[in-house]
Amino acid sequence: MSVCRAQSLTLSGIDALPVEVEVDVSAGLPGFSIVGLPDAAVQEARERVKVAISNSGYKFPTKKVIVNLAPAHLRKEGPAFDLPIALAVLAVSGAVPAESLKDAGIVGELSLDGGLRGVRGALCMAEGARREGLQRLVLPVSNANEAASIGGVKVYGIRTLREAVDFLCGGNEVVQAVAEESDRSESVETAEDFADVAGQRFARRALEVAASGGHNVLMSGPPGSGKTMLARRLPGILPPLTLDESIQVTKVHSAAGEGKGALIHARPFRAPHHTISTSGLAGGGSNPRPGEVSLAHHGVLFLDEFPEFNRATLEVLRQPLEDGHVTISRVAATLSYPARVTLVCSMNPCPCGYAGDKRRACRCSAGQIERYQGRISGPLLDRIDLFVDVPRLTRQELRGGEAAEPSSVIRERVAAARETQTLRQGVPNSTLAGARLREACALRGDSEALFGAAIDRMGLTGRSHDRVLRVARTIADLDGAGEIAVEHLAEALNYRRSSFLDR
Ligand SMILES: Nc1ncnc2c1ncn2[C@@H]1O[C@H](COP(=O)(O)OP(=O)(O)O)[C@@H](O)[C@H]1O
Ligand SMILES: [Mg+2]
Repeated sequence: MSVCRAQSLTLSGIDALPVEVEVDVSAGLPGFSIVGLPDAAVQEARERVKVAISNSGYKFPTKKVIVNLAPAHLRKEGPAFDLPIALAVLAVSGAVPAESLKDAGIVGELSLDGGLRGVRGALCMAEGARREGLQRLVLPVSNANEAASIGGVKVYGIRTLREAVDFLCGGNEVVQAVAEESDRSESVETAEDFADVAGQRFARRALEVAASGGHNVLMSGPPGSGKTMLARRLPGILPPLTLDESIQVTKVHSAAGEGKGALIHARPFRAPHHTISTSGLAGGGSNPRPGEVSLAHHGVLFLDEFPEFNRATLEVLRQPLEDGHVTISRVAATLSYPARVTLVCSMNPCPCGYAGDKRRACRCSAGQIERYQGRISGPLLDRIDLFVDVPRLTRQELRGGEAAEPSSVIRERVAAARETQTLRQGVPNSTLAGARLREACALRGDSEALFGAAIDRMGLTGRSHDRVLRVARTIADLDGAGEIAVEHLAEALNYRRSSFLDR
């Protein structure tokens, strides 16, 4: 036989698309060319495949070998085609039965000695293989657990090229990988509990509201008041991920090469350092991978010491905060990663940290404070729902005030409020827009009058107008109220005010 085919997959965003690997071996000047891969990658794949085949004890044909990766229009990146190329080459010479390649998806990077290295996106590949009707997925053993966790396709983890050949010849038994029993209780178990946070009733309430409706928060206060502590406890009160959300989250982590070998049930919490690059935050790069905003999908993106972040870097968050996904433009194509996050930011009110503090004098000049606060991106501020002051604790709060409520109790109220939203509109309040927003957040009588006055007095923009309504809806849901009442709206308006940003 002179032409043989193997089935493989490649990542596009967090989805794996099918790629057919076609190998033609013909008489003629000995050579090895690959078409359908970007230039640099072709060079590398060729060398690895050639050397790995001979180092595994097989013969690389001394003929004209042409590999075609189809479809041609699809941009194929990464070294995951090494294994299917090698196996299709070996199928031409009969070392592997061509039949055995028909129903198997194959991915894996070869090392020069014929060993297999793991690839990114194993779970996405398994999902793609299932969708394409492939019966089996053959991939490096280090990826097997992750790939098996989604189910619906038989997954075989392989160590070496030799082992792959023997397996396809039916010569050896490779144990089928099975899904590890993933622990759903992981979703609610976190070491960090709200019971540890003394005082800060206002901030605790704000985070409960944020969790209930998926709203964005900015906390401001002096150093050591508990901002970081509070933010880290937010994932612990979010409602558990649905199965569908779990799969989405796991796919993103898989595509980033951060798969854990099982489905992820815990809400992500990502706290990138303020020196992070634009592509680190948004994703991308050659051989693109998801960034922090996508790794936080369905969870919390925490920007600690917010004004320290590069403004230009933060601009990339504008689209995901509005649309729930990031688009990455590439030379050949654009791709998109999901990125629906609850944004939590924390900052000191001024460079020294004590502006507005009742006990300690602030050493900053008015100009310094202005410059400091000016570092915060306006468009991003416009996407914050809840502005929260986190003041220094009083002596009484520090020395054994009342016992604080544990996360488990807060979580129940949050879950009930989310349930209300799901029943009413299918999505969290933070994503309400247009007609659905007007319908869910209709105001009557007193609340309409209050809102009208507030719009004039506070100079709300169109965007912040909508944000107040969404937050008021969430507060009403926490209260079990069908309609937004004056007290709900008043509390929502209260979160627009911040002592330091008003000055
Ligand atoms: N409200 C609080 N309740 C209990 N401990 C607190 C509180 N605020 C601060 N702490 C203690 O101070 C440490 C620093 O708090 P942190 O959250 O890092 O402050 P910030 O981020 O506001 O500077 C915490 O690890 C905790 O031990
Ligand atoms: Mg901090």
